[in-house]
Amino acid sequence: MIPAGHLPILLSMSALLLTGSLALSPPKFTKVPKDIISTSGGVASFVCQATGDPKPRVTWNKNGKSMSSQRIEKIEFDGGAGVVLRILPLRAPQDEDIYGCVAENSEGKVSVQAKLSIISEDLLPAGFPKIEKNPQLKVVSRTTSNGRIKQLRSGALQIDNAEDSDEGKYECMASNVEGVRHSSYSRLYVRDPRVYPEERIIPPHFSIIPPATQEIVPGSSANLTCVAAGSPMPCVKWMLNSEDLTPEDDYLDGSSILKLKDILESANYTCVVKSILGIIKANTQIIVKSLPKPPTFLVLIETTATSITIAWDNGSLEPVSHYIIEYSAKSPESKFKAMDPITTTRYSIRGLSPNTDYEIRVSAFNAIGQGPPSDPVEATTLKQAN
Ligand SMILES: *[C@@H]1O[C@H](CO)[C@@H](O)[C@H](O)[C@H]1NC(C)=O
Ligand SMILES: *[C@@H]1O[C@H](CO)[C@@H](O)[C@H](O)[C@H]1NC(C)=O
Ligand SMILES: *[C@@H]1O[C@H](CO)[C@@H](O)[C@H](O)[C@H]1NC(C)=O
Repeated sequence: MIPAGHLPILLSMSALLLTGSLALSPPKFTKVPKDIISTSGGVASFVCQATGDPKPRVTWNKNGKSMSSQRIEKIEFDGGAGVVLRILPLRAPQDEDIYGCVAENSEGKVSVQAKLSIISEDLLPAGFPKIEKNPQLKVVSRTTSNGRIKQLRSGALQIDNAEDSDEGKYECMASNVEGVRHSSYSRLYVRDPRVYPEERIIPPHFSIIPPATQEIVPGSSANLTCVAAGSPMPCVKWMLNSEDLTPEDDYLDGSSILKLKDILESANYTCVVKSILGIIKANTQIIVKSLPKPPTFLVLIETTATSITIAWDNGSLEPVSHYIIEYSAKSPESKFKAMDPITTTRYSIRGLSPNTDYEIRVSAFNAIGQGPPSDPVEATTLKQAN
């Protein structure tokens, strides 16, 4: 007889032997990807998962070939036995293909395929799904229990007793026989209510948005002010392309003034506002403008006894808002007299004296101011006809 105390040990040893020899199994799909009809610019999301022993690894291919693109995202779950393949934004025709999912372990290999078709937005059939309301950013307090996530008939997603692991990006998907439509995504933040009570959570927003564009003359300075609020208070910084311009110590107070001096080149600056609740940005385009160049090719078109008609070229590719003509009778004591602004490049000056020498010049204006005058053109009015 075996002493009672030894029995459990023998039993568990035989159980070990059993799992070692009999439980190995080749992979079998538990989730297979479905064919997708989506839109150009939209999203395709294929899901593939398998079981087996040892746990299989799942991989994706595009018509048998491996793929890599910035538009492709592979999200593993179940320790690599499941992979979501996401392609976005979709482009036709290069993404239209057969996508293969392969599950493999030491005992075998299985594969399954799904087809992706893409329709351009202007050719969608009438019944193609439409997203009427995209999900909204949300912050909730953390609590815990089970069976918490439900999809409501309205299309809402309800999560009871939020846990830290619920935090992340959420999107919804609408599908019917015509195709699939993904909403934009939104973030869910789960916060410790002792640190962030719900009423104190306010996503970052601007209180002072810097100007979208600012035109300046070369060598001048500008102060760009960006102020933001929110709870928790967001940090604010300025960037020029990918370069940080604000020292890290200056981050925390929800506002930032970028002081620019002796600006010589046009550039785009970005105010970046960031808190745990998200990032918002505002761009300011600094445009360095010079005064307009003098008009060129000032020519005499016609003279009469009392009028002179001239025309000119606008002399610069930069936008000109208007011109000013100045003229003067040619004599040592007379001065140039300015006429009212005009927007044409041809003009008849009237009310002149007959048989008189005149000097005429034109200058251009833009948003910055008046440019230097052109070289003067000389003209003599005709003798008065009797
Ligand atoms: C920018 O702010 C400084 C003070 O911080 C001031 O001296 C300067 O005149 C301002 N420049 C412009 C262009 O407003
Ligand atoms: C700034 O952005 C505008 C609009 O996106 C672009 O047209 C312009 O070329 C940019 N300027 C510079 C200096 O990068
Ligand atoms: C000046 O000439 C440029 C290029 O020909 C043109 O784009 C611009 O509109 C002109 N401006 C005026 C005020 O005529």
